[in-house]
Amino acid sequence: MQHPSGPAPSTANRREALHRLAAFAAASPVAFGQKAEPSPDAMVNVFDLEQVMKSRVNKTAYDYVTGGGWDEFTLRRNRSQFERILFRPRFFREVSNVDLSTSLLGLKLPMPIFVAPTGVHGQVHPQGEIATVKGAAALGALMGISTNSSFPLDKIAAAAARAPLWFQLYTGPDLDGTREKVERAVDLGCKAIAVTVDAPYAAPRERDQRNQIDNTPERQAGARRRNLGEASGSQGLATRFQASLNWKFLRDLVAYAKVPVLVKGILTPEDAVLSIENGAAGVIVSNHGGRYLDGAVSTIEVLPEIVDAIGARGAVLIDGGFRRGTDILKALAIGARGVFVGRPPLWGLGAFGEAGVAKVLEILKKELAWAMALSGHASLSTIDRSLIRFDRP
Ligand SMILES: Cc1cc2nc3c(=O)[nH]c(=O)nc-3n(C[C@H](O)[C@H](O)[C@H](O)COP(=O)(O)O)c2cc1C
Repeated sequence: MQHPSGPAPSTANRREALHRLAAFAAASPVAFGQKAEPSPDAMVNVFDLEQVMKSRVNKTAYDYVTGGGWDEFTLRRNRSQFERILFRPRFFREVSNVDLSTSLLGLKLPMPIFVAPTGVHGQVHPQGEIATVKGAAALGALMGISTNSSFPLDKIAAAAARAPLWFQLYTGPDLDGTREKVERAVDLGCKAIAVTVDAPYAAPRERDQRNQIDNTPERQAGARRRNLGEASGSQGLATRFQASLNWKFLRDLVAYAKVPVLVKGILTPEDAVLSIENGAAGVIVSNHGGRYLDGAVSTIEVLPEIVDAIGARGAVLIDGGFRRGTDILKALAIGARGVFVGRPPLWGLGAFGEAGVAKVLEILKKELAWAMALSGHASLSTIDRSLIRFDRP
């Protein structure tokens, strides 16, 4: 019998066709309801990497990275306040080449997007900070290394391949030991010290409490307790050594550091000015990603008053909720010299290791260039507050 669309396939051909179909189905992730293995190239925005990371790490690690203090009000506000800032794009301004390069405290940098210091990367990937720093180095991005890193600083510095590093300092009770830690970081090539001031007591993170975070490798190793000098303190709270410090600590640190010192965790113009008056080269406007005092202001909403208070006396940097190139552009327009991202590189790390960190930074870099081009800015030097307006609350 003649096949309607031509000669009927022979049995051998039919068998071959069926065989080919079976092979295709086995290789195809979408056929027969199998889910596609995600790849870095398939990631469209940084939230995509969060979803992949969530599927690849355990709940304790995901909650530790993602969570915030108490009701997570400040965590949400860090994001929501970007919506109050709107762009005033300008046109016919020759944006065929967009240049993101910048300089900061003596460093030439390819872009104003930096990796924030975050602790214990080993919780989300076995290569921890080694993979993170390689991913950051692929784009020449500045990376802050936490006092609480999973890997020793010399190993991280060796993997950085000349990419710029800063060291984030938590002080322990041993002030001489703290000084040695700073001097070692500088010897290993860290170009600045960022001293974190917003965590004088342990964090009120209920997700971690429910997950009994004390069982994490970080706690088992005792690393945080040792580094932070944690003890049972006032009102039965887990206090840290830095709870007993004041501005004199900053003056002493500036005197021996030999590199610029920045104060991380600043949320008011008063403390920004005190930081500069006590010798800091700049401040990082930060609420620790909403992980400590819940109800604290979001960072983008206080940025204008802090930039105005410091003026040309120091560099103002910022972090907290930056997930889009447009968010970064808003901070640059207000006067920040650069933006740190905390969770997104950890999402990238947990999702795909080194390649995921690089992907996150690539996405943000591309989005920033895109937003600049769409708003009429070919380089950072033309960006100022005329680019934005604030919506009424
Ligand atoms: C998992 C995690 C660990 C962190 N560890 C540190 C730390 O060791 N030292 C520090 O100064 N800040 C730490 N931070 C705060 C970040 O440096 C940064 O301020 C914050 O993540 C920025 O907000 P974002 O995550 O919304 O980008 C941590 C943040 C996260 C999410």
